Amino acid sequence: MIHFISTVSKYYYITILEPKKIMKIKNQYMKNNNENYLKQQSHMRSETAINVTKTWMPDKDKYKSYVDKIYETGWVTSYSPLVQELEKRLTAYLNVKNIVLVSSGTAALEIAYKLLKLKGEVITTPFSFIATTSSLVNSGLKPIYADIDPQTFNMDPENIEALITEKTSAIVPVHVFGNACEMDSVEAIAKKHDLKVIYDAAHTFDVDYEGESILKCGDVSVISFQATKLFHTIEGGAIIIEDDDMANEAKMLSNFGINGSESIGYLGMNAKMNEFQAAMGLCVLDDIEYILQERKRISMLYKDHLSEKVQLQKQNVKSTKNYSYVPIVLPSEEKCLEIQHTLNEHNIYPRRYFYPSLDTLDFIEIENECAVSRSISSRILCLPIYPGLEEKIIMDIVQVVNSIVNDEEC
Ligand SMILES: Cc1ncc(COP(=O)(O)O)c(C=O)c1O
Repeated sequence: MIHFISTVSKYYYITILEPKKIMKIKNQYMKNNNENYLKQQSHMRSETAINVTKTWMPDKDKYKSYVDKIYETGWVTSYSPLVQELEKRLTAYLNVKNIVLVSSGTAALEIAYKLLKLKGEVITTPFSFIATTSSLVNSGLKPIYADIDPQTFNMDPENIEALITEKTSAIVPVHVFGNACEMDSVEAIAKKHDLKVIYDAAHTFDVDYEGESILKCGDVSVISFQATKLFHTIEGGAIIIEDDDMANEAKMLSNFGINGSESIGYLGMNAKMNEFQAAMGLCVLDDIEYILQERKRISMLYKDHLSEKVQLQKQNVKSTKNYSYVPIVLPSEEKCLEIQHTLNEHNIYPRRYFYPSLDTLDFIEIENECAVSRSISSRILCLPIYPGLEEKIIMDIVQVVNSIVNDEEC
């Protein structure tokens, strides 16, 4: 017998059904779910919708002046001038040695795996965006999930060693929501077993760890500059590597593996950042101090007013914060869904992020179930945060969350 959630409105019921009936209801549920999803998408696009994030749009005239430059040069891609300029400015701003700009964070992960010649199994976290896992699978690697810490939401180093086999080639932890992993422990295990460490640092723009950029950690760190991130290039990402030769190789890997005018040195891919993306990055970088300040303001308002019954992410004290997300964990999935539903009725769209836990995906072959990740994933909501979000709206959100979380009746 299987337990199946028949409705996800204010209350949801667990019913016990025969397998045939289950399929019928499940199909209906999927259909409703898809319709609701599409309906929700159109509401979320309306001007008044408060989404979990809002892409930062820099000054239009400034962007236009960059577009004018692009029209003058006619050089739109392939390590073009603005890409080179952005690379230089980001290297200085983030205080790293080499940064290789590419077309997305996902491509950056795949290039990192190629660069480090990973094989076989890779230990990673089930509590992440799908790209952490899909990049591995699409690179012919098998993700092995280590469960997470229920407070930090990062991979718990205690769970890593038992999963290491002779097939393991690397560990890919994620600094979840910009919160630094327990890197000392992860790297000690990696050293002991001769494994590579690639940090999925998609969320860690402008985070320092023990006084240095967090992006310097591991064999390679990878970041995303997708439009939902606090610094963005519309779509984009980067690979950060200390070693100059490896950085050069990563650059070649992002350009089909071409290493000379008539020579191809590697089996690469096409993952180049283009000139229009770089222009956006240059404009957004000019505004970064304001973006960070605003995120801090909003984050503090939530923190100061949310009920104590709401679990916040425990921060790594060795690192600084960039306030990229406001994740809250509710006491039950029921309360989580009720908050989501109530806010949606007010045209406010927090996200169940990360949901579902990646070890529940039926197209990924899994070795072990991760109970903590599944539990956090079922109860987490990321609340709206973006520059300009009004205090009144934040307080309305807080009021909805607190009233539901403090209501003992439901
Ligand atoms: C943890 C994590 N890893 C990887 C990615 C993939 O980045 P991109 O969307 O730039 O491909 C994301 C994107 O949101 C992410 O959140």
